[in-house]
Parts: sequence; structure tokens; C-alpha cells
Amino acid sequence: MKILYATSEAHPLIKTGGLADVSGSLPNALKALKNHVRLVLPAYYDVLQKLPKKSFRKVADLRVGGCSQFYDVRILQLSAGAFNGLDVPVWLVDIPALFGRSGNPYLAADGTDWWDNGERFGVFSKVVTELAMDRVGLKWQPDVVHLNDWQTGLVSALLSLEAPRPKTVFTIHNMAYPGNFPQSLFHGLGLPPYLWSMHGVEFWGHFSLLKAGVAFADWVTTVSPTYAAQICHYEFAYGFEGLLQQRAAQGRLVGILNGIDDQVWNPQTDALIPYNYSADKGRVAAKRKNKVALLKAFCRMHSEKTLPNEDCFEQWIEKPLIGFVGRLVPQKGIDLVMQVLPDILQNSDANIAVVGSGDKQIEAAICQLAKRFPQRVWCHIGYSEELAHLVEAGSDMFLMPSRFEPCGLNQMYSLAYGTPPIVHNTGGLADTVVDASEENLQAGTATGFVFDEMSPAALSATIMHALALFGKKRQWQKMQKTGMLQAFDWKKSAQAYQALYLTK
Ligand code: ADP
Ligand code: GLC
Repeated sequence: MKILYATSEAHPLIKTGGLADVSGSLPNALKALKNHVRLVLPAYYDVLQKLPKKSFRKVADLRVGGCSQFYDVRILQLSAGAFNGLDVPVWLVDIPALFGRSGNPYLAADGTDWWDNGERFGVFSKVVTELAMDRVGLKWQPDVVHLNDWQTGLVSALLSLEAPRPKTVFTIHNMAYPGNFPQSLFHGLGLPPYLWSMHGVEFWGHFSLLKAGVAFADWVTTVSPTYAAQICHYEFAYGFEGLLQQRAAQGRLVGILNGIDDQVWNPQTDALIPYNYSADKGRVAAKRKNKVALLKAFCRMHSEKTLPNEDCFEQWIEKPLIGFVGRLVPQKGIDLVMQVLPDILQNSDANIAVVGSGDKQIEAAICQLAKRFPQRVWCHIGYSEELAHLVEAGSDMFLMPSRFEPCGLNQMYSLAYGTPPIVHNTGGLADTVVDASEENLQAGTATGFVFDEMSPAALSATIMHALALFGKKRQWQKMQKTGMLQAFDWKKSAQAYQALYLTK
């Protein structure tokens, strides 16, 4: 089967979060199932900078209408395997006026959305539609176009106007980002008036690119079974519950759990951690050494000229280290973490390592806490692939108390790295972590800590439970091992997508 996989980010080319991890690995897994896959994404400035000049070539060009002008578009092709980790050919949609800006794909330097995001991804979606219809001379027509989040939602709507056409699958990675724009964008892009209706792309007077995806795709998927059920309810749907209930009633809304890329997130082979390990006995010693490496990395970053002496590290090794990596936004429950941490730090010997960026107030609060508890709270405000891996390998437990979580990858990385996660009972977290209740501990199925109520008291009690269990080495190590032996690789999920592609 031929599959065109359209996305706005893909690891290792460009990444802001889990969508990049998925887009960088699901196409490879689909290829392993003998499909022919092409990945298509915008040729962002940073992506072109990263690529050696000889690694890509122009394979087509076209002109596409934007809001007030036509754009000359080049399709650049990166061959399969030309860039580490991407096993499928990649088409980069090069439109310098829209994507030739350095930095975050969606945000300007001041943290606000690029002013022309609607036009940028609207035009990108028009180009993907031309590629999907094989109208640019590449002689490759996909059977299925797999779309991801609002940035590619318009493709579903545009392809619905074509016959014959490839099948469309639209995956929701996060309902919190609806891609809402003024109606003027709809007119500016010169879209067929027929699409503007309450059954189409119109959403309370706005032009919703997420709705375009959900309303018109042949199949709508989201990234865990629990989130698929949750988004049919008011609390999780941001006004789209009616439409999602309708798609679910048609049997067209499906939850498929993400996998993890074991080429990238595997403690046995991870090149970003100094001591590799597996589920066998050696992991305990390796994790302790990784903990020291992590703390040394933080000390160096905090520009301590002389590192604390080895005795300090010896003491730190014995103390439980709680890790957190993620976007510092309310979704991730980091505000709740900030509420409970002072108490936890005062009432236990735990230390905490935080890597993340996002909300400026939360960033400042974390830095404050690190000042108040020197050498007990370590933080890196910013993006660091290396530290993210080291936190997974060197921490004893991982904090992920998200308010909602479509799937979540970090809790799965934590399980794979023997770092039991502490999670809220929601979305993909509920589908992947088994709580350390007495019953589950006895049955040998526990892999982490799950709390139901999103409150400081519940979070605090669960962290204290984890810290207490950390002291019971035998039980702790059993739980680590059970988590490490879970198979979250992509194979099963890729098979589920493939089955969907084949269903009428
Ligand atoms: P989301 O996509 O909602 O941000 P996920 O858990 O699905 O959450 O995926 C987040 C991904 O982004 C993980 O690979 C995580 O390691 C990475 N990540 C998030 N913040 C940072 C950061 N500051 N530095 C490095 N990696 C980060
Ligand atoms: C989104 C979600 C996250 C999910 C990721 C990849 O960013 O917030 O839960 O894991 O997409 O699907």
C-alpha cells in the first residue's frame, strides 16, 4: 500500500513534542510492514540548515494561492536513510516566505503564534492535496493520506471534493489546539464556499482546521483508547463533542495507542546516556551511575566551577531522585507539582530534576524553587534532548501528573528505562501504567503510581507513597523490571493503522 504521511514536525528533523516522535517513527514501522511510505512536512529554515546540501534535491515545483499572493513552491526530496533515523523518503515543501524563519515551527521568538499560521498551514495543506492527487508530476499516487492535527486538517476537506481520491485518516494528537482562524482566512485561501457550513469547516463563526480534519476524514483516530472515549465528552472536547460523538456513532473514531521508537528510546543502546543497561540485574548499578552523570551535568550547567566532592555524589545516589521532562504548560499539571513540591522537599529526602520550557511564570517559579532548595532541586529551562534522555535513565521515578494526556510518550520512556512513573488516571497514562496497589504489587503487575483526583492532596499522597516504596528495594526492583518488560514498540500500533487503511 502507498501511504503519504503529512505532519508539521518529525524527529530528528524538527521537534516540539510527541507529534515529532510519532511522525519520526510510525512511518518507519509502516515501511517495515512492507508499505511504501512518503513523509511530507514543511521545509523549515532550521531543517534546511541541518541537512547537508547534497542530501536532498528538487523533484518538482508548483504555484499555489495564498491569502494575497501566489507562492512558488519547490518540493525537495530527501532519500530514505539519507538522514539518520528516517527510513522513508521525505518530501520537504519549500516556501521560503512562509517557512524560511528560524526557531519554533509555530511560535515567534516572543512565544506568540506566528501571525500567519493559518496561511502557512493552509497553503501547506493545499500542496499536500496536490501531492496526494499526484498533480505535480511525481508519478506517485498514495492509496491513503495520513494527516496529523490541525496543521494538516484542511487536506481532509480538500480531498473530499475529489473523485477518485485516496482514503484519508486524520489523527488527533491533542484537542486543545483547534487551529481556529477568522473567516477571512477561508476566503483568502479561495476555498470552495460549499465547505463553509456548520457541517463543514465553520465553528462558531470561525474557520477551524481541526474541524476540517475531523468532519471530512474517512477515519478519525486519536492516540489512545481512553482519550478516544474522553473526547466525546464536553470536558475534553472544547466544543467538538457533538461532532466527535457523531463520528464515533458511525464507527469512524478509533483510539490507537502510540508506540515508542526503540532505536531512539532504548536504555540498552541509547547513545545519549553514559551507562547502557537492560532489565537484568546490572541495571541497578547502571542507573546509579547515570544518576551521578545527570547530577554532574546539572552542576556543570549551573556553572559551578568546581564540582561538589565525590562524597556529595555518594549521598545523592542514596536519595530518591524524581525526574520531570516536558512542556511547562497547565496540560502537564506542572502548576500542581509546584504547589506540592515545597512540602515534599521539607518532609522527605527526595531530590528533583526538571527539564522543560513553556509558561514563563512556571519557568520562573521553578528557578525560584531551585534557589530555595540548592542542590536538591535541579532545573534546566530550555530544550535538551540529551538531558531528557539522562533524566529518564538517571532518575528513580518520573512525574507526569497531566490534567489530560492524549497518549503521552514520556511515561512509556520511563517504563522502558526502569523509572516508575507517577501519573494521573487519564488518557494514555491510564492505558499504559498499572498502579502499585497492594493487589497489583502482589500480582506482580504494578509498573507505577496512578492517582484519580487532580488535587494537590492526591498528588502529594501518591508521591509520598512512591517514596515509601522506593525504600523497599525488593518490591521496587520488581516493579522496575515489570515496567521495562512491557512491549510498547510500534509493531502492534502500526498493524492497527494498517488494518484501518485497508478497511472501507
Ligand atoms: P507532548 O507531545 O504533549 O509534549 P509527549 O509525552 O507525547 O508530550 O512527548 C513529549 C516529547 O517531547 C518527549 O519526547 C519529551 O522527551 C520531549 N520533550 C518535551 N520537553 C522537552 C525538553 N524541554 N527538552 C527535551 N525534550 C523535551
Ligand atoms: C500530543 C499529546 C501527547 C501525545 C503526542 C503524540 O502532543 O499531548 O499526549 O503523546 O501528541 O501523539
